[in-house]
Amino acid sequence: MSITLNSPLDMHLHLRDGEMLSTVAPLSAKTFSGAIVMPNLVPPVDTKEALLAYKERIGLAIGDETFKPYMTLFFKPTYTKEFLESVRDELTAIKLYPAGITTNSEGGVAGFDVKELRPTLTAMSELNIPLCVHGETNGFVMDREAEFVSIYEMLATNFPKLKIIMEHITTKESVEALDRFENLYATITLHHLLITLDDVAGGMLQPHLFCKPIAKRPEDREALRKVAFEAHPKVMFGSDSAPHPQHAKESSGCAAGVFTAPIAIQVLTELFVEHSTIENLQAFLSGNAQSIYSNISVPNKRIILEKEPYIVPTKYGEVVPLYAGESINYTIKEIES
Ligand code: NCD
Ligand code: ZN
Repeated sequence: MSITLNSPLDMHLHLRDGEMLSTVAPLSAKTFSGAIVMPNLVPPVDTKEALLAYKERIGLAIGDETFKPYMTLFFKPTYTKEFLESVRDELTAIKLYPAGITTNSEGGVAGFDVKELRPTLTAMSELNIPLCVHGETNGFVMDREAEFVSIYEMLATNFPKLKIIMEHITTKESVEALDRFENLYATITLHHLLITLDDVAGGMLQPHLFCKPIAKRPEDREALRKVAFEAHPKVMFGSDSAPHPQHAKESSGCAAGVFTAPIAIQVLTELFVEHSTIENLQAFLSGNAQSIYSNISVPNKRIILEKEPYIVPTKYGEVVPLYAGESINYTIKEIES
């Protein structure tokens, strides 16, 4: 029996730049209709010129694939309403990183002083620009996301008209916060639906499963699975596919990020089928995102999968994907756009 999915969207994706961009962008562009493109380049994408130039490089890298890069800016509390108005038409969201919390986030927000953030966040509310947030404090690694919930509450209550997207949530505390505040939404990755900390560090250390936020406890994964499998209307798929070259992962200072873009749709299909919730995958993978990001245009694409083993390549360029060299159970048979 074949499974058809329409216009899949990846609402949190790292496409990088240069040679890496050329390697990874075509892989997402082939199977997804669009993706929210993260701005954590070096230097970060924080001007209109940088955003337009990056969009152009992405366009060159994907060639004639039917794919929309939804562009983001790296949040700065100094963005004025005038500036945001000038870039509004090119922009889908703004991504806020706490300073130094993950890859290339050194220029992020230090301390969360509502007075300092108010002008930019007010302008974003008025212009209906969603705020995507990497929600981790610099506390103990397993507690960082749960500790950040109080910052989400502060943001959600002070800026009730601002759409706030809790990116790549990994804890039951974040799942609970979703239903407490009308303007909080979330993305969930594939890998956080699959693994717990045990898979990363319970046996031999698995660098290709190391990412920020780190995978948590079984009960956290259960909470994520519940809202993903039921396609809770406030959650959407965001792979957080974050490629790093093999030497940066298999090293004594392992870079954070799991590369899932080329196998995400197949493995999500398997997971939803396994949990008898395949009828909800369309909403999790596309419909919810279209409702939450109400103003995106989404190209038509139809993906047809069959239950048939597929051997995942051991590498794409210099990048080792999730399930490298292993067999997964669904294969993409046809893509129509
Ligand atoms: C991401 C990266 O490498 O850019 N890494 C990760 O572990 N997820 C950054 C991020 O989203 O935190
Ligand atoms: Zn990310």
